[in-house]
Amino acid sequence: MLELWGTRVAFGKCVCRLERFIAKDNTLAVRRIRKEILNAIRGLVPFPHSIGKRFILKGARDATGTSTVLPGSDTNGLGSIRIEHPKGTFALTPASFISLTAICYRQDLLSGVGLDWGTGTGCLAIAAARVDSVSRVYGLEVERANVNAARVNVTLNAVDKKVRILHCDSYRPFTASGVKRLEALKHKVTFILANPPSSEGDDGFGYRREVLRGGRKYLERGGRVFLSISSQYGAARITRLVRDAPGFVYRGLLAGTDLVPFDLSRSDLLHCLELYAAEERRGGMEYTFHNPEAKDLIMNATSGLDMYRSTGRSPLMRWQTHLFEAR
Ligand SMILES: C[S@@+](CC[C@H](N)C(=O)[O-])C[C@H]1O[C@@H](n2cnc3c(N)ncnc32)[C@H](O)[C@@H]1O
Repeated sequence: MLELWGTRVAFGKCVCRLERFIAKDNTLAVRRIRKEILNAIRGLVPFPHSIGKRFILKGARDATGTSTVLPGSDTNGLGSIRIEHPKGTFALTPASFISLTAICYRQDLLSGVGLDWGTGTGCLAIAAARVDSVSRVYGLEVERANVNAARVNVTLNAVDKKVRILHCDSYRPFTASGVKRLEALKHKVTFILANPPSSEGDDGFGYRREVLRGGRKYLERGGRVFLSISSQYGAARITRLVRDAPGFVYRGLLAGTDLVPFDLSRSDLLHCLELYAAEERRGGMEYTFHNPEAKDLIMNATSGLDMYRSTGRSPLMRWQTHLFEAR
């Protein structure tokens, strides 16, 4: 499967090179061929515009572990961002940092009004609000403690004029004023950001399906979704996601880390791996981790879990953020 993925990316790069070459000749025949090529690959080939690993953001956590600072030197012009995450609220993870990297280094894809599904303590909404061409971002969050912390962080980072945090279950606000606000955004939203949790009792992809299915009615045509999907889910699940949530085209990888351990000393990640292994036992699609002993070797969730239990070593994967576009 990864070979197929690599082939598709390589094919995408070749087509872009070919496109640049034929763009120099602008006869009608060449324009027609160019259009045919683009139509043939649209929706099938990821755009080769991933961000180099040298740009990946890291935050500095304070001694108490309840505050993270992204220095202005790392945010590509968006200034320093400080996120307070008191005990019981969401602290930034590697998936948060890769989502932040995508926002900071693909500001060209963000403008107008955005939603941040599962805003946690607000980091993605705050970063996006610092982009000049972004006028407003609504952070949607289910946990009351996160909603409160996100509101504090919005003020701390001086984006009060642009960011509103709504207490919601997915796209369903708990207050009448929230319902009214979201209702008014139908077909007006230009981007959605989402770093959703893994869902329980299914393939772990339930919230990703929810983000796209529920978000389509808010997005205008051409609206973009920055969605966290780490590499162990595999390319086939992304293909299936677009099928299960109609109205979107997959546009490729926005930002990703190199192969890193799926750190099983974190209880939440160990729980995810157990859920993945249960999905494999039910006959679901396999997950694609890499073996830390031989990085080219793919291992599924079941063998990753067995390896961890017998050796204490975590399988490898890449944290990634992908781009989808509303049709
Ligand atoms: C992985 S965290 C990401 C937080 C933040 N966006 C970041 O990147 O650091 C996922 C967030 O989604 C929230 N969440 C989970 N289910 C939700 C739901 N049904 N509606 C809204 N938010 C939800 C969680 O409480 C959590 O804050």
